[in-house]
Amino acid sequence: MRQTKVLTVDPHRPDPGTVEKAARILRSGGLVAFPTETVYGLGAHALDPNAVRAVFAVKGRPADNPLIVHVSDAAKGFALAKNLPAVAFALAEAFWPGPLTLVVPSSGAVPKETTAGLDTVALRVPAHPVALALLAAAGVPVAAPSANRSGRPSPTRAEHVLADLDGRIDAVVDGGETGVGVESTVIDLTVSPPLILRPGGVSREQIEEVIGPVAERAEGPSCERPRSPGLKYRHYAPRARAVVVSGAPDRVAQAVLKLAQGFQGRAAFLLSDETIATLPQGFSGLFPLGSKSAPEEAARRLYHGLREMDRPEVDVIFIEGYDEAGIGRALMDRMRRAAAAAEVDADALLAGELTPAELAKSGEARPW
Ligand code: TXA
Ligand code: MG
Repeated sequence: MRQTKVLTVDPHRPDPGTVEKAARILRSGGLVAFPTETVYGLGAHALDPNAVRAVFAVKGRPADNPLIVHVSDAAKGFALAKNLPAVAFALAEAFWPGPLTLVVPSSGAVPKETTAGLDTVALRVPAHPVALALLAAAGVPVAAPSANRSGRPSPTRAEHVLADLDGRIDAVVDGGETGVGVESTVIDLTVSPPLILRPGGVSREQIEEVIGPVAERAEGPSCERPRSPGLKYRHYAPRARAVVVSGAPDRVAQAVLKLAQGFQGRAAFLLSDETIATLPQGFSGLFPLGSKSAPEEAARRLYHGLREMDRPEVDVIFIEGYDEAGIGRALMDRMRRAAAAAEVDADALLAGELTPAELAKSGEARPW
């Protein structure tokens, strides 16, 4: 047990003295959580095997799941790589700083603890003034997974970090709520065409505008031999069981009424504003995700909503599905992971094909 310092900064103009305090901890092998534009990261000196081992230990993260190396500019990142393909430069130019992680051949400078023994390294320049100031002040590459206990929803606020890691890390730099809310897109540039391993803050459409067609990993949180080792683990999950309800907002709203009756007082709902607007006054257990036409807002709010609604009395959290275009792709990916792929169609539910009682018992919706 150690005391976790909370270093509060202005997210737009972080105080250099406070940033230097955090940077000093990183340089000396300590663990510091900090905001990025996606989620809070748990930073450690990426070239210090002991510091990196401590990250795995405090998160409870399997050792075969490699970490993203964060740097303050592309040149510093590419210095850790070799045989860089032209697309790496094009993507860095277009999206860095930003929510895109490039998997490229490693020069060997980054220790195996960080890359989990792979011969590739994942690089990212985050677009957050606090993250950039910290990385520049640290002067070393910073390995940073999301700053949650393994298997929990990623943190979008310093309080989420503390809920999971207080007393286990040296400091958290509190820069308020993060903007994107879901993690970076991870793309493997060692294969042709490049392969999106994890959808995220930069959409496939945006990437293809810059480098042409790319491939995307087949759907599903688990596969036998994942290219990205992290993908085989259950992720982004609340403690309660979660189920995605998809369909048109009016059908989802009707399905929600039916589900509320079936799970009296034991269900919570993460819903679009449109769906909420059609529910009766006084309907309880609601968390608004924003407008159906603003998937970026739902992405920003999802993890907070999962943590807020994950209360002891709640057995099941129903989450309204969104359209999968643009950021909606990453949003649906995270919703499905939180639900361990349990998803029901509002029409089927209303047609009585799946009653709430059956849903509670069904293999699909079983708690993990
Ligand atoms: O937005 C983000 O990416 C956040 C912030 C903190 O930067 N970080 C993050 O890290 O989400 P983490 O560790 O939670 O997820 C990193 C993902 C994992 O799925 C991991 O397996 C994959 O990136 N990854 C890391 N290095 C890799 C590599 N060399 N090859 C393939 N996948 C890699
Ligand atoms: Mg993570």
